[in-house]
Amino acid sequence: MPLEFAARTRRIPVYPLAAGYDLGADVAMLASNESCFAPHPAVVEAAARVLGGVNRYPDPSYAPLRRALADRYGIPPGRIALGNGSCDILLAAGEALLEPGAEVVYAWPAFSVYPHLAAASGARAIEVPLDDEDRHDLDAIATEITVATRLVMVCNPNNPTSTALSLDEIDAFLRRVPGHVCVILDEAYCEFALTLGDTYASLELLRRHPNLVLLRTFSKVYGLAGMRVGYALCGSEDFRVAVDQVRQPFFLNSAAQAAAVEALRHQDEVERRVTETIAGRLEMADGVRALDMWVAESDANFIWLHLPDGVEEAAVIEGLKARGVLVRAGAALGREGSMRVTVGTAPENERFVDALGGLMGLPPMAG
Ligand SMILES: Cc1ncc(COP(=O)(O)O)c(C=O)c1O
Repeated sequence: MPLEFAARTRRIPVYPLAAGYDLGADVAMLASNESCFAPHPAVVEAAARVLGGVNRYPDPSYAPLRRALADRYGIPPGRIALGNGSCDILLAAGEALLEPGAEVVYAWPAFSVYPHLAAASGARAIEVPLDDEDRHDLDAIATEITVATRLVMVCNPNNPTSTALSLDEIDAFLRRVPGHVCVILDEAYCEFALTLGDTYASLELLRRHPNLVLLRTFSKVYGLAGMRVGYALCGSEDFRVAVDQVRQPFFLNSAAQAAAVEALRHQDEVERRVTETIAGRLEMADGVRALDMWVAESDANFIWLHLPDGVEEAAVIEGLKARGVLVRAGAALGREGSMRVTVGTAPENERFVDALGGLMGLPPMAG
């Protein structure tokens, strides 16, 4: 007899997992918005140093990392939530805030994990279409907020479309949200966003809106996706307490904590990576536009493009794969006929543009 599972397991969408980890070194892995830069050697050493002591559980107060983030952002440690990746905090937020009868509002397409929150909790998901430029339509989102709303998610810059809203636009939106409704501003890619200025700018919003949570990660610019460390800077301590209450006590392993603390010490390296990524992003976007395709204004470490009418998305994805380039199909992200491509190293970016041009029947880029 088959096992009987909870009904919600049938509602939870399957996360579109990236493939290609078995394809070897000669593949451009441009499908998961990871960093193409290996972690700083001091970060690797810091993680390795703690391995000899992993017979002990990790520090459950996560004090060094909490303190390092508190010092950097000027937020009390009690208002900093940590997680096994920022996904962990996101899912815990769903568990802590949502239940049958409640509503969660977010733009769509946005981060693929958002639909999970309503499905897992039995809450209702309100998905608000993006505008014509594939940006969040904050007016439309605001009008969807009802007495049942518990949570609003705003992904800025948005995954998969790469677009960002200015903080003035977000501030104006937050003024329209009732104070008891939690707003998670998902800033997984904020370090790459010229629209936002710097990573301190959105902290001003926290001072004005205690219902706001800034969700961030070490998976992108800090190059620690495989370590799984995320954090949230919270407008009030309540959010941190609630997400900690619904999770297991040891959600962040010792090596991940040590790596994250060390990574924060190398901001010069972070800046260098951001500069290189933005240069790559511009080149990639220009290369794709030269093929006569629409590319969104990117503020992230990836680009988002629309394929020309009549071009079959699956054939392009397969064609790129055959040329050693893995990208993410729009169909898997909520918008068929589009593609999300992570900025990689310069040769990887060039390989992608050349391969795409080849598939569109054009000769490869010179040089
Ligand atoms: C918008 C957004 N939020 C959150 C995450 C989760 O990142 P992690 O769990 O690795 O911190 C991702 C990962 O791709 C993302 O794109």
